[in-house]
Amino acid sequence: MSALVILLFVTQLLIEGTKQACPGCPVDGNPEDKDIKYFLNKAIEKINTESKIVEPKKVVKILSVKQQVVSGVMFNITYIAEGKLSKKDYMCRIVLLDEPWVSEEPQVLERHCTPIAKKKNDKSPHGTQK
Ligand SMILES: *[C@@H]1O[C@H](CO)[C@@H](O)[C@H](O)[C@H]1NC(C)=O
Repeated sequence: MSALVILLFVTQLLIEGTKQACPGCPVDGNPEDKDIKYFLNKAIEKINTESKIVEPKKVVKILSVKQQVVSGVMFNITYIAEGKLSKKDYMCRIVLLDEPWVSEEPQVLERHCTPIAKKKNDKSPHGTQK
């Protein structure tokens, strides 16, 4: 006597088009994206040549990117920069607009950097006492 029970669970996944981003809505960009890095560095290089800048900086790490399709593509990038002279770290945010038909270089719409207070006590106490 054998009972063969075959249960077929058919799960219907209703994958609606809900995942598709609405046009013009900001989406997360990839902080490792080469183009984004390139844009950012290009913009920073340009900014570094401006006389009103406190101190030239270089990008250390991109933390996050939001991008949004407007008339071009707008990148809202959060990154860490280092002052080339003071070696201080800054937390920065920049908004770049890429409109290749307007200019080769991304336009800087907004930029803001605040110094990051470095911990004085980052010497770890590695006591060699026995
Ligand atoms: C960029 O992102 C920051 C933080 O998420 C937000 O406050 C700011 O409004 C954004 N700027 C633009 C132009 O989207």
